[in-house]
Amino acid sequence: MVQNVAAFFRDLEPEDFYLLSGIEQGMRFSEWVQREKLPKYASLTSEEIEYRIDRCMQHELIQRKTIQYEGYQLTFEGYDALALRSFSERDTIDGVGAPLGVGKESDVYEAMSFQPLALKYHREGYTNFREVDREREYTADHNHVSWLYTARKAAEKEYEALEGLYPDVSVPRPVDQNRHAIVMEKLDGAELSRARLESEQVVGVLDLILEEMAAAYQRGYVHSDMSEYNVFIDEEGITIFDWPQAVPTDHENSDELLERDLTNIYGYFKRKYPSETPDSVDTGALAEDITVDELDSVRSYSDS
Ligand SMILES: Nc1ncnc2c1ncn2[C@@H]1O[C@H](COP(=O)(O)OP(=O)(O)OP(=O)(O)O)[C@@H](O)[C@H]1O
Ligand SMILES: [Mg+2]
Repeated sequence: MVQNVAAFFRDLEPEDFYLLSGIEQGMRFSEWVQREKLPKYASLTSEEIEYRIDRCMQHELIQRKTIQYEGYQLTFEGYDALALRSFSERDTIDGVGAPLGVGKESDVYEAMSFQPLALKYHREGYTNFREVDREREYTADHNHVSWLYTARKAAEKEYEALEGLYPDVSVPRPVDQNRHAIVMEKLDGAELSRARLESEQVVGVLDLILEEMAAAYQRGYVHSDMSEYNVFIDEEGITIFDWPQAVPTDHENSDELLERDLTNIYGYFKRKYPSETPDSVDTGALAEDITVDELDSVRSYSDS
């Protein structure tokens, strides 16, 4: 599990961040940055580097590996600290609060500002990277794709999708993005998977979800990871979140992905609310209604 760097963030000094961003720079070229290169990357003297390495190692912001040479890389905590510093410098957030969700691919925390926000650190690429690393030990890496890159790309993709969808589609309002992290509106309510709908609400809620999926399609996106875990529900309605794997509608598989999303959501309703959910639903036809902009037929889906 990745530690919450917010707990000791205030103890970090500007020079600690010089070292962290120096190592970040070096990691563009190799997984383990040579110790000799650090003074140049970090613009610090050798003695200062020594001291900063100790501090950053103590906080587990960096790690060391000595095989052919002494090398350093950021841990996810180190990368988190860099993102957090950017958010704090541009006054996006004033503090980090309780965890909202901790998963394999992300850590989400409450964040403080004028209004409650959510801070999501992407963790994509970490497990893969670990496996690759173990298999081949260290060799001069010509074409390494680091977890830094994979996680940052995921955050960029998710943020871009949110910006393209908000406010026409019910998604969390995007606030800021840096490195592998995004800041967005904090959602109230609960995941659909944890809600227990009343009989008379079931079809209405399913309709709301289908309408938002149709609206997202109109805005040029297919979610591609739709499930009861990526929909929030409260008295006001539903919100679809978790968009890093969204594909544009002109992507060659977008219609298949849309149909798979529809099958997932419909399947969930059918399993959890068998008697309230209509039986004969053709998700292929539903997908077609969405792609040819037959919003009315999607909306009156419950009558079918
Ligand atoms: N904007 C938000 N407001 C409140 N809670 C959120 C928000 N975004 C995410 N969460 C919480 O964090 C959890 C994980 O977020 P998300 O689904 O975006 O990431 P994930 O990569 O799917 O994580 P996992 O690997 O656990 O599935 C969500 O299930 C939800 O409980
Ligand atoms: Mg999710």
